[in-house]
Amino acid sequence: MTKKIKGFIFDLDGVITDTAEYHYKSWQKLADEENLFFNREINEQLRGVSRMDSLDIILNGKEVPAEKKKEWADRKNAYYQDYLEEISKDDILDDMEAKLNKLKADGFKLAVGSSSRNARKVLKHLQITDIFDTIADGNSVENAKPAPDLFLHAAKNLGLEPEECVVLEDAESGVEAALAANMGAVGVGPEERVGKAHLVYSKVRDIDFDEILKKL
Ligand code: G6P
Ligand code: MG
Repeated sequence: MTKKIKGFIFDLDGVITDTAEYHYKSWQKLADEENLFFNREINEQLRGVSRMDSLDIILNGKEVPAEKKKEWADRKNAYYQDYLEEISKDDILDDMEAKLNKLKADGFKLAVGSSSRNARKVLKHLQITDIFDTIADGNSVENAKPAPDLFLHAAKNLGLEPEECVVLEDAESGVEAALAANMGAVGVGPEERVGKAHLVYSKVRDIDFDEILKKL
């Protein structure tokens, strides 16, 4: 990375808030209803993966008509949206809100780069929509992570070059997308999941932006 860092792109689920558990419960409910094999281990593979790609991973090659797949994905999403009604500011991870405010005060551009089509709804419940200069979500581009498209779209909206951006991600697919976009990649989570990133922190509270600015 040679250019000066001017902006940060945050994944949402797993970096700003922990909605993975709600995604898990919603998929589990659908799987139980439709007799599909599913557990927490499979759920780990769904981090950062779009809704339809997630269903394909769960189906594991099982052939299901497109119409039925759409109905299943819609039903899972309805369960998930019910859970979202319960989330509030208290669901922001660790000191993430303070970290975002500090970056903003220091003049950095801030974006959300999430595969979720529910990203705006989640941000609204967390009451942090306005901190971000732009929000790129599951509706913004066609090619989902690990393709770089979503992060490139966010950078463009920030008016920045990819090399001027750093992505924070908790998913392997997200780290791969950041690297493919030629951006700095910061992984949040275990090495075995986000170890390909330039820098790794195990928890949100450990993320050190001074260190990121020095090392990337
Ligand atoms: C995030 C989550 C994934 C989820 C995806 C799509 O990236 O980490 O687990 O499948 O968003 O979410 P959506 O709200 O559009 O179903
Ligand atoms: Mg995530």
